[in-house]
This record gives sequence, structure tokens and C-alpha cells, in this order.
Amino acid sequence: MRLAKAWAAVEAEAARASKRRIADLFAAPDRAASFSHQVCGLLLDYSKTALDDAARSALLALAEAADVAGRRDAMFAGEKINSSEQRAVLHTALRDPSRPLTLDGEDVTATIRETHARMIEFAAAVRGSGFTGQGGPIRDVVNIGIGGSDLGPVMAARALAPYADGPRCHFVSNVDGADVADVMAGLDPATTLVIVASKSFTTIETMTNAATLRDWMAKAVTDPAAQFVAISSRPDRAAEFGIPASRVFGFGDYVGGRYSVWGPIGLSLMLAIGPEEFDAFRAGAAELDAHFRSAPLAENLPVLLALVGLWHHQGLGYPTRAVLPYEHRLGRLPAYLQQLEMESNGKRVTRDGTPLTRPSGPVVWGEPGTNGQHAFFQLLHQGTQVVLCEFMLAREGHEPHLAHHHRLLQANCLAQSEALMRGRSFATARAIAEKLGYDGEALNCQAAQRVFEGNRPSVTLLYDKLTPRTLGKILALYEHRVFVEGTILGINSFDQWGVELGKELATALGPVLAGEDAGADKDGSTLALAAWLRDQE
Ligand code: F6P
Repeated sequence: MRLAKAWAAVEAEAARASKRRIADLFAAPDRAASFSHQVCGLLLDYSKTALDDAARSALLALAEAADVAGRRDAMFAGEKINSSEQRAVLHTALRDPSRPLTLDGEDVTATIRETHARMIEFAAAVRGSGFTGQGGPIRDVVNIGIGGSDLGPVMAARALAPYADGPRCHFVSNVDGADVADVMAGLDPATTLVIVASKSFTTIETMTNAATLRDWMAKAVTDPAAQFVAISSRPDRAAEFGIPASRVFGFGDYVGGRYSVWGPIGLSLMLAIGPEEFDAFRAGAAELDAHFRSAPLAENLPVLLALVGLWHHQGLGYPTRAVLPYEHRLGRLPAYLQQLEMESNGKRVTRDGTPLTRPSGPVVWGEPGTNGQHAFFQLLHQGTQVVLCEFMLAREGHEPHLAHHHRLLQANCLAQSEALMRGRSFATARAIAEKLGYDGEALNCQAAQRVFEGNRPSVTLLYDKLTPRTLGKILALYEHRVFVEGTILGINSFDQWGVELGKELATALGPVLAGEDAGADKDGSTLALAAWLRDQE
């Protein structure tokens, strides 16, 4: 009842807000300061939105009514908040195993510490040539995994490339043979280490790629399995594949795939940047966790970011949000956030199985700036749907000798949010067209093309420099944002039943495509497509 009332208040505020112009809110001299929040070295500016004091209070009341603080505490305490799988949610323990935590009789933090120490020992051996391939020191590492067993390490390895001083890391995820073929083409198996990263150790893409790489390696070395390690919560299955327990790094079922980069799934990253920088990455996330756990809702960065998200999607009805890092090395962040946000909150029922009465999480998409400006920003500025834009930008780049590039990058980022909000009136557009020499009917037509409605919302996240510690903070901020949004929507953000059906059907379609099964239960379209692929129209 309290929650329904709180939603109604937010919806009433949204109806009011749709009538005002964001730019007018800046008549209040302290607008930028009162609608931004700085914490842990991150500055979140959400002043370029239609939120005002009343709307923000209504959203905070919504967070109170949904007991965000209570659910958060339950998560950190190890309660089984992933109710459909009866699991605790403790990825936060991976980055701060100093807090004692017992789960079903297991000392979780002791296990995490022990695995982490083994990772460090192994990484040091590989990086220092204590562990070698059968043709000499390890020069290349291939991480095979998909979804949460790929997107975190691949995104972070690219983001932290300036810190890479270990073997080169490559990533194979797609079952499309092109992926593994392209990676194999440039490597020497005798000096390559393969990491099979799969929590379940059954994912068909990963197991198929692992078998292909094992065959490739077997042609070059006498003991291919010796250059394989596994990351999995199923050491029994890794052993069946030929990887002994001594080279399996495990994690408990209290860590979801898309939340797993902080532990063994991050081994490729640790190999690339070294244990110290990897620990800085974890420490950054732990710093943000400590803030999330202790700050009052009104000063809590993940809570504020979540409320801004809910305001635009569920409140104002904008169907998508764009994540726009003005940081080239965050090129895979949109893909990472797509899994984090859409696999977590793309649900149709609440935790108790009743249909949602509001939209679930939004479509998340994006691309680094400035490239996106020359692709889809046209729609952001003049298209008929409004998209919440989330900009990210560093004060400092990693290329001091190219500081003028960084200044241009910054100018572009700030210009885009300004343009989205400010727009360009018909009168101004008309004056521009006039200057270009248009008159009569052509003048109005030309002016109309040049009008920007403006009043388009954005948020901007600023940080100092993309260090391992900063990346850790940013990712933890987004993880908790997803959790808060899911909590308010009543969703279990930690299961992913929606990926099951396609997997089942793909397994059944293999024999149909091979011509071994007629596919009696298949529809006409699927059968016709399969026949065409078999070249048997
Ligand atoms: O796509 C579903 C999913 O279960 C993801 O949640 C997970 O990250 C991915 O598959 C990979 O799973 P695994 O690590 O078990 O191979």
C-alpha cells in the first residue's frame, strides 16, 4: 500500500515535470550543485534532467517504501535474496573478504581469500616464468567464456590497457568458429595458456571452443591439458575435461556470472595487469560498497543513479537509455552494462511471481564518444523518441603528450549534453537559413530541418582518470544501481530464466539441421529455414 502510494506520487511528479523545460530549472543559482553528488572521487551530475526537489523527494520516498536499505543489508549479510535459485548474493565479498561471513556452515571469506591467494601465486608464476608453456614462457593467454565469464574481463582488460605488462590477453566467446579461428591464427600454442571460464562448465559455446583449442594445442605440444586452467564452480566437470583440481579456481553459487569479474573470472585481467593493480580494481569497488552500505539514501550515489533511471524509464516512459563513455578504452562497457542491466532487470514478474504492472528495466545501449556523435546522435537530438543519455568523462587521459586530444574530447562531451538540453529554436534556425540565402517557402522548410527541440535529459559521471581503482568504483556503482532499481520494481535481479528456452531449443535443432531429425514439433517457418540452410528447399 505504502509502495503503491509512493509510486503514485512519483507518477504525479512525472506528469508535472513533462510540462517544464529543464533549462528553466537553472534559474535557481544552485541548480548544478543541488542536483549533483560527489563521492569516492566520482561526480554525478543529474541537474540536466527535469527532476526538481519535489520529484526527488517523491523518488526517495519510493526507495524508502521499497525498503532499499533493508534489502541492501540483507544482501551484504548473505541472506538468500536470489529467491528463485535459493542463493545468497555475495559478489561484494570477492572484493572485500575481510568481513567474516558464514554461509550454510562455510566460512565464505576464508574460501575467497584462499582462492585469491592461489590466483596471485599462479599469476606471479605465469608472469615471472615460474609456470611456462611447453615451448617457453607464456606469451599469450586465451580466455574462453561467454556472458559474465567474458564480458567483465574483456571490458576491463581493454579499459586498463595502459596498465598491462603481462602476457597478451585474447578472448574467445562466440560459438561462431570465426571467433576462435581468428584468435588461433595469430598464436603459438606452445607458448599459450588457455583459461576455460565457465561457472557451470556446461555452456555449449565455451565447451565447444575449449575442445577446439585443446585439439589445436594437441597438434603442437605433448600434454595440451598442462596449458589449460579452469575457472568454475564445478571442479568435477573441469576434471572430466582433463584439468586437475590444482589448476581449477572456483567460486561459490553466491556469485552470479555477470557479477563475477572480481574473483577468479578476472584471472585473465590479473595476468595482464598484475596482482597489485587487480587488487586496486577490487579495492575501488570495495570503497564504493562501503559508501553504498552506509550513506543515507539521499546521499547514496547508486541510489541516486537508480532513481534517475526509474524516473526516466518508469516515470516519464522513455524506453531506452544510452551509455556514452567519452573514454575510448571503455568501448566494451556498453556491452558489459547490457548484460548487467538487462539480464538482471529484464523480467516480467516480481519476486513472488506476479506480473509487473510497470515496465521492467530499460533497453541499454551505447558507444564511446566521440564516435557515437557521427552515428546515432542525430536521433538523440532530433528523433521523435527521447533517450536518457548517460555521459562518462575523465579529467585526465593516459596520454599527457596528447592533452589537446583530451581537451577536445571533454569539449565534445559537455557540448552534447548542453545541446540536448538547450536545443535550437525556430527563430534561430530561421536566421541561420536566411544567412545561407534561403527565402520564401524554402526558408521555412530549411529552418524546420535545423530546429532542435532540446529539453532532452542527460546525466554526466566525471572521474579523475581511468585507473584500476576508478574502474572498480564505476562498475560497483552500476551493479548497485541495478540492484536498487530491481528492488524498487520488486524484481529478483540475480536470476536469468529468460535465457533458458533458447538454449533448450538450440540443442533440439542441432539434429534437425544435420538432417537426422524431421523436427515434427517445429513450426513451418523454422523448418523452412532449416531446410534452406541444409540446401534442401
Ligand atoms: O547467458 C546466460 C548465462 O548463464 C549468463 O548469466 C552467464 O554469465 C553465461 O551464461 C555464462 O555461463 P557460464 O559461466 O556458466 O558458462
